[in-house]
Amino acid sequence: MKKILSTREMLLKAQKGGYAVPAFNIHNLETLQVVVETAAELNSPVILAGTPSTIVYAGGEYIVGMAEVAAEKYNIPIAIHLDHYENIEEIKHYVDLGFKSTMIDASHEDFINNIKAVQDVVEYAHRFDATVEAELGRLGGQEDDLIVDEKDSMYTNADQAKEFVEKTGIDSLAIAIGTAHGLYKGKAKLDFERLKEIRSKVNVPLVLHGASDVPDELVKKAISLGICKVNVATDLKIPFSNEVKKYFIENPEANDPRKYMTPGKEAMREIVKHKIMVCGSNGKA
Ligand code: 13P
Repeated sequence: MKKILSTREMLLKAQKGGYAVPAFNIHNLETLQVVVETAAELNSPVILAGTPSTIVYAGGEYIVGMAEVAAEKYNIPIAIHLDHYENIEEIKHYVDLGFKSTMIDASHEDFINNIKAVQDVVEYAHRFDATVEAELGRLGGQEDDLIVDEKDSMYTNADQAKEFVEKTGIDSLAIAIGTAHGLYKGKAKLDFERLKEIRSKVNVPLVLHGASDVPDELVKKAISLGICKVNVATDLKIPFSNEVKKYFIENPEANDPRKYMTPGKEAMREIVKHKIMVCGSNGKA
């Protein structure tokens, strides 16, 4: 059976190649199918991301099982990634279950305690050849159950980022340069000077969270300046649910999930395709 991969090689390759690997948040069989089928069609490496509430909802074993089937079926690099995990014991549990990539989000802690939490996860995950992403600075907005008020958000400091990466031994760093989770109240504004400075001081792959509702040109520019992983959730959920709602309005008697899920899947597929092209990861499998 072909293996589920860590994100190590795919992100280092993206870093060298000047493109980004998209990480799409999935929730169930249907969303996972759309992501892997589209990535396979465009010959793109892909990361399937699950937040704690997604993994509880779908079941970790099911996610691992479905991803294994996808890895066997399609000849592209596929990773499953624990997104925004804060609990070290939960991370260990899912690494034991077969997840080869995790984020430890201790960005709510102070610098020293963030480092400590991340070190523990790195020490465990690397024993199993799993990769670790951590966040320095703090994104505002909402990602599932995680809500960060705008006043509590904080940009990443480049010198601290350098120290953070050196002390923790992480494989990739999520940075805060102006994106937020979910939809923006105004227009997204990215601090590209800060990104350049971080890139010049940090050599691990850099991750952009909150890429939904950010104009394509800005995401592309961030990639050209060193972002190698782009996280997308909200921009997939909205068209999926809009199409399902529309289907029920037009077919109020509908009750067959195979029928009402299909327009949602097709709408999501178009966005996944588009995001892969924005990341430039098509043809890079
Ligand atoms: P969006 O919902 O804004 O795309 O953010 C996704 C994300 O960063 C997941 O970690």
